[in-house]
Amino acid sequence: MIPGDGIGREVIPEACKVLRAMAEASRRKFDFVEFDWGAEKFLSEGVTLPAGAVEMLRNDFDAILFGALGDPRVPSNKHAADILLGLRFKLDLFVNARPVELLDPRLTPLRDRGERDIRMMIFRENTEGLYVGVGGIFKKGTPDEVAVQEDVNTRKGVERIIRYAFDYARRKGLKRVCMSDKSNALTFAHDLWQRVFAEVRKEYAEIEWRHLYIDTLAMEMVRDPGQFDVIVTCNLFGDIVSDLGAQLAGGLGLAPSGNINPESTSLFEPVHGSAPNIAGKGIANPLGAVLASAMMVEHLGWTANAENLRQAVRAALRENRVTPDLGGNLSTRELGDWLADQVAGQRAAQA
Ligand SMILES: NC(=O)c1ccc[n+]([C@@H]2O[C@H](COP(=O)([O-])OP(=O)(O)OC[C@H]3O[C@@H](n4cnc5c(N)ncnc54)[C@H](O)[C@@H]3O)[C@@H](O)[C@H]2O)c1
Repeated sequence: MIPGDGIGREVIPEACKVLRAMAEASRRKFDFVEFDWGAEKFLSEGVTLPAGAVEMLRNDFDAILFGALGDPRVPSNKHAADILLGLRFKLDLFVNARPVELLDPRLTPLRDRGERDIRMMIFRENTEGLYVGVGGIFKKGTPDEVAVQEDVNTRKGVERIIRYAFDYARRKGLKRVCMSDKSNALTFAHDLWQRVFAEVRKEYAEIEWRHLYIDTLAMEMVRDPGQFDVIVTCNLFGDIVSDLGAQLAGGLGLAPSGNINPESTSLFEPVHGSAPNIAGKGIANPLGAVLASAMMVEHLGWTANAENLRQAVRAALRENRVTPDLGGNLSTRELGDWLADQVAGQRAAQA
């Protein structure tokens, strides 16, 4: 567990409470180890990601449950970049999995759309593209200033995320994979995406493939989200359309994500940030963290347990047992307690 900063420190303990209830109900065992990496440690000790941390996580842990990083006292956000981007890059977590699943029809801003329309998985490439930090600024602060940010796409990087998307569709019995790029304008980088996609899809003859330019994808996700099962795209576009997807399914408080490398220790987190504007008030919505825990549990192979966690979240939404951001009046802790009770009750139902 890396709760991090702000509301990360409020929602992760609730998610762990629910996971403990789940473990007890199903006689599973979790060993939680908490790390205090975040703004406080950076400000008091100057430490961001401690030496040896990556090797330790890779060798000694099965998964990481992460809260959020970001603190107004660290305007540079250096600690967040070192810790979160450090883990993503050093553990080579090349898949950013962003499920978009409407758990209650009242939550979508789209008219006349329900759970069957808004159910897709977005895979964002997580280690390359415009986020690698290659570039520079020339003549900074002058009228002639030039800023260059390189878009790095490797054959290996593009191939493994596209293959992951097809493998996921096959594993889940999903019929359609859509690759989205901007190959009409980005004629080098996304030409590679086009060629790799054409090659890889041949190995998945039973899956219907489709290509959409990213601007068209954004429009189509709003116009008719039901046409998508799996979407795969690059780092920058994935960052944007996965947030669009999050809003289709009820917004930031609910959205989970996984940063995955099938051969390494993967990291699961709610999509939201540290929300300094509400931190410490006890009103943060823990559902995103609980749904991220469900992804983690599923990743560890406990599919039925993951579904139980999602059921508990669905029940909370149905019965309006929610925090103020969703129009309820429960505190973070009260909602965590309620969910833990639900999950504990699932034992009785199963027994
Ligand atoms: N993965 C991460 O660690 C991550 C992601 C995004 C932002 N951040 C950091 O978080 C800090 C704040 O960023 P921001 O304000 O742009 O984004 P944010 O997600 O923290 O907050 C955006 C808005 O949504 C609300 N909100 C977010 N999560 C909520 C929840 N669980 N329950 C109720 N309301 C919630 C906040 O109160 C705020 O009004 C910044 O330092 C930013 O860098 C970190």
